[in-house]
Amino acid sequence: MRFGYFDDENREYVITQPDTPLPWLNYLGDEDYFGLISNTAGGYTFYRDARLRRLTRYRYNNVPTDRGGRYLYLRDNQSEQYWSPTWQPTGRQLENYACHVGLGYTKISSEYSDIKAEIRYFIPLGQTLEVWQLHLTNQREKTADISLFSCVEFCLWDALDDATNFQRNLNIGEVEVEDSVIYHKTEYRERRNHFAYFACSEPVDGFDTQRDSFLGAYRGWDKPQSVESGVSSNSIAHGWSPIGSHHVHLVMEPGEVRKVNFLLGYQENPADSKFESEGSQIINKQFVLPTIKRFLKSSEVEAAFAELSTYWNDLLSIYQVKTPDEHTNRMVNIWNAYQCLITFNLSRSASYYESGIGRGMGFRDSNQDLLGFVHMLPGRARQRILDLAATQLESGGAYHQYQPLTKRGNDAVGGNFNDDPLWLVLSVTAYIKETGDFDILEELIPFDNQPGSERPLYEHLQRSIQYTLDRLGPHGLPLIGRADWNDCLNLNTFSSEPGESFQTTTAMDGKTAESVFIAGLFVLAVTELAELADVYGKSVDAGIYRDAAVDMKDTTLQHGWDGDWFLRAYDHYGQKIGSNQNQEGQIFIEPQGMCIMAGIGRNGSHAESALMAVQKRLLTTHGIVLQQPAYSKYYLQLGEISSYPPGYKENAGIFCHTNPWIMIAETIQGNGDQALDYYLRINPSQREAISEIHRCEPYVYAQMIAGRDAPTHGEAKNSWLSGTAAWNYVAITQWILGIRPSYKGLQVEPVIPKSWSDFSVRRKYRGAIYNIEVKRVGPGNQVSIEVDGKAVDGTVVPLPQSDGQQVHVSVAIK
Ligand code: GLC
Ligand code: GLC
Repeated sequence: MRFGYFDDENREYVITQPDTPLPWLNYLGDEDYFGLISNTAGGYTFYRDARLRRLTRYRYNNVPTDRGGRYLYLRDNQSEQYWSPTWQPTGRQLENYACHVGLGYTKISSEYSDIKAEIRYFIPLGQTLEVWQLHLTNQREKTADISLFSCVEFCLWDALDDATNFQRNLNIGEVEVEDSVIYHKTEYRERRNHFAYFACSEPVDGFDTQRDSFLGAYRGWDKPQSVESGVSSNSIAHGWSPIGSHHVHLVMEPGEVRKVNFLLGYQENPADSKFESEGSQIINKQFVLPTIKRFLKSSEVEAAFAELSTYWNDLLSIYQVKTPDEHTNRMVNIWNAYQCLITFNLSRSASYYESGIGRGMGFRDSNQDLLGFVHMLPGRARQRILDLAATQLESGGAYHQYQPLTKRGNDAVGGNFNDDPLWLVLSVTAYIKETGDFDILEELIPFDNQPGSERPLYEHLQRSIQYTLDRLGPHGLPLIGRADWNDCLNLNTFSSEPGESFQTTTAMDGKTAESVFIAGLFVLAVTELAELADVYGKSVDAGIYRDAAVDMKDTTLQHGWDGDWFLRAYDHYGQKIGSNQNQEGQIFIEPQGMCIMAGIGRNGSHAESALMAVQKRLLTTHGIVLQQPAYSKYYLQLGEISSYPPGYKENAGIFCHTNPWIMIAETIQGNGDQALDYYLRINPSQREAISEIHRCEPYVYAQMIAGRDAPTHGEAKNSWLSGTAAWNYVAITQWILGIRPSYKGLQVEPVIPKSWSDFSVRRKYRGAIYNIEVKRVGPGNQVSIEVDGKAVDGTVVPLPQSDGQQVHVSVAIK
């Protein structure tokens, strides 16, 4: 069952039924100022850090769900009926509801008793404000007497403190009201030099800034007293819960259209001119008023929206594809690319599943996210790499997370997740293959942000590799530390205390538990580094790294192979994990994907055998589960993975991040049909038709789909912020469609289904535009290439001669 449809031409998903199974989310903003907005206008806004600079309040765990938002109410002053044009919070039934989820904007429209409302929400590029652009039409044959009420509830900045520290917070709320602008200035009197504002383009008939005056005692957002009575109480908040609500009275002729703009923004003032005058406590508005005036004008708002559309169109035009499969086209051309950029911006901080008060930027997460957006925003990718590398430690290890506001490593979580540093090698090599910017390797970057410790980025990569080599276990495989990619496989934790963190508790010395997954990741990374060293003129290093790869491959085949598939790990007691000798958890997806991607056992039948085992034991109609059989009880020596009920999360859920590794492995083995089959099983657009089962948004990936051991098999959770976005993008664009950046040019090696007769790609790369036409002329994967009519040897299209060059590439597959 569907709750809407894809409009590919306008790059929108249009939701036509407001009561979606879960709130369906979109994001506003692209650099400093962000908003989360659901299909019924729920959500919140923040400046840079979702915890520390939160502008509006949102209530997780609320019933009904999704409370806190960008609310408008309309009241018909003749009938005294009122409703929400975004359906919530009043929930009154609407005609012709539609929510257009677009790139960087959401537009919600509806009708109620012949009054049509359309509201477009977006954040203009480079601004720290969001615009709500309302168009109201009187479709009646008589004059309509309408009261329009707006409402946002302010958060007292630190979202965690706001939700916990009531003895203080109920005393400190402060606002100012001037003309049609409501200023929220809690704590501005002391150390803050920022405030929020909520402005309206029309003169107001009244306002409210104290929540309980607006709602009335014991009343909810669905029936505010002010709206019900049609009269605002002009309340000024002193303590309690500051809100912003305007009341605009509109008398509309038949057919008349009224445009009303609202702005919700954030402003910082210089510390020495915070106040209007010496000794005053009134906000100095001289810096903010020009911005407010500008964006209350419809012409400026239209111009800003046009600019936003151009911005997105330019980003997406970098990789456009036309294949026989609509789900592939739609995800590659629009939604998967969009999700990659959102994930880059927000890491794992703020969604409807990440509260915005917990996690910083993950080291491994951010390096992987980069793989999905580096071609679209190479400049910001470069900065991200430098920030990440600066949190690396002299040992080569890394803080597991860093804080976005300070860019410092997070001491509370610390390090010793032994896979972390290796991901840096993958992000840096991907960045250089995309851009050719070898200079980044010379950048002097400190360790742990300590001045004086600066070393070239190249040396950081060398230390990442050395970190693994310095930490090998009894079988010569890498020690796992606190955990590897699977944060929940905690082999040194041994936690028996409820509430103890599985990630930061360490009970064992960590000298025995080893990870086959890290062995695979190590081989992949060290092979990449060897290739880089070669082109960077460090052939001695390249030789050393190639030898290291060979050694680890041998070790993995000797001690990390279970007969039919790769083992997962050795536990603290030296017992195998992911072996057919185990009762539960006999086979895991991660080492199969990673070891094959790294080329381990490529010469023998290992890869084929491991992939057969994946298909036989882990595949479901909804995707490939993480392991089988699921753990049915808690194992002290395994940790968090066995804390989840069977079928959820890392305990045999379909953890979508890992599926693309198998897709890539299938393409390496030459199985295009199998790779695309796996791709489509978790592809959100393909799953749109079963939205009542999938339940999350059909336009973005979720972290997890419940596995076959779960009673809710097929149900997705944790949409939007997941490494799933980047890896699926890499699997389809670089491996199945086979267009991959390399040091020498664009490599073209598609491994597509047999039934595909052709496809084409337009790819901007190193300043040139490649128009690539691929035709299947035989049933295999062998590629021959002509560039501008001339045959080239091999599968790499050489680098362009000049900027802006159009290159025509025709590819035959036989
Ligand atoms: C989460 C984490 C990621 C980890 C994965 C598997 O998505 O953000 O770092 O690799 O879970 O445990
Ligand atoms: C929890 C999650 C896991 C995530 C980790 C990050 O353990 O289950 O997916 O990687 O937290 O801290």
